[in-house]
Amino acid sequence: MSTISFLLEGLRNLRTTGTITRSSPALCKAAIAGIDFYRARVIVELGAGDGVITRHILKRLHPEGKVIAFEVSPDLCADLRALGDDRLVVAEDSAENIRHWLDKIGAEQADHVVSAIPFAALPEALGRQIVTAARDNLREGGCYNQVHYSLKTKRYYEEAFGPVATRRVWGNLPPAWVLYCCKRK
Ligand SMILES: C[S@@+](CC[C@H](N)C(=O)[O-])C[C@H]1O[C@@H](n2cnc3c(N)ncnc32)[C@H](O)[C@@H]1O
Repeated sequence: MSTISFLLEGLRNLRTTGTITRSSPALCKAAIAGIDFYRARVIVELGAGDGVITRHILKRLHPEGKVIAFEVSPDLCADLRALGDDRLVVAEDSAENIRHWLDKIGAEQADHVVSAIPFAALPEALGRQIVTAARDNLREGGCYNQVHYSLKTKRYYEEAFGPVATRRVWGNLPPAWVLYCCKRK
């Protein structure tokens, strides 16, 4: 999708997109920091948009790995399918349905979860449901990385995962945060 189309999609659906710009290369790199690409076989991405972070994941993903990319916008899902990578499963669905999509590919758990869902713009109950589903379906030791433009919903992750580390990414418009959570034993 072109930058102009992405901007228009963002304006049309601001409540679900939460932004009118896609993540910069610096933010994409921060979003996948800490992922053990050597061992990971199943990565779940929530709010994949047109695949800007997905491409970074696919570049480093094991040849036998899978990425399940959740996205609710049909237009953006078409862009994701156009990436044409057999390791990518496009879940045109809301992200609380992680279990269903893991079952579809025969996976017990996700090794890591990366999310850019704008929880601050979604109803709190749905946000908490998605974060809980992500935590419940993540393997122990796996990481959950969340991109945000504010720390307004940081408590969702602290309640689900315990301590959360944060990194400010200035090289993005607007400057962003990445929150790093780990599923402990
Ligand atoms: C801030 S954009 C991020 C797009 C891209 N990953 C990036 O980093 O630029 C958030 C995306 O989350 C999607 N989204 C919103 N609610 C969702 C939900 N409940 N389940 C899956 N995706 C959702 C929106 O359609 C939008 O494309």
